[in-house]
Amino acid sequence: MADQRTTPTAGAERPTPAAKAAAAGNGAAEDPREKMLTTQLKMVRYRADALIEVLHAVQDIYGFLDPVQLLRVAKELQLPPSRVLGVATFYHLFTFEPKGEHICTVCTGTACFVKGADELIAAVEREFGVPEGQTREDGVLSLLQARCVGACGLAPVALVDGVVVGKASSEMLLAALDKAGVGPMVDGGAS
Ligand code: FES
Repeated sequence: MADQRTTPTAGAERPTPAAKAAAAGNGAAEDPREKMLTTQLKMVRYRADALIEVLHAVQDIYGFLDPVQLLRVAKELQLPPSRVLGVATFYHLFTFEPKGEHICTVCTGTACFVKGADELIAAVEREFGVPEGQTREDGVLSLLQARCVGACGLAPVALVDGVVVGKASSEMLLAALDKAGVGPMVDGGAS
């Protein structure tokens, strides 16, 4: 009946010093994605048995399991890195490969969904020719969705290469992608 996930000292709610510092806002010039991951870690109270949930969050936020973030997860959840890697490699739904050259992640958590996340996705699909959950044929853009990136007050939220686009409209998101250098799909490759 034991939880099939990780168990070492699961269940205990014990923020690490690093977590406490992050929660206290001592994380200086953090990448916005790191802050989002911090929020996710806080949401699961740094529980070791939430490892899979946290790995999902890493993949949602970064588009893949960034090894640097896996080390952070191991540290924050007080798990051996080998354990984190073992779980990450066991499940095929996790990927270690960065996706497109640019990554657009639209949060589809409840707060964002009710504020029109689906319209954001539809706009990117339409304007940039990339189906949700996929990478464009030319490899330039991946369009992903995340469940909640922990910035509900800014809903609807999207990330363009890790940069937060809060209270996003379709126009804002398309402009952010344009600014990031994502051009329209050029005919070439597969036809
Ligand atoms: S639901 Fe989108 S940030 Fe929380």
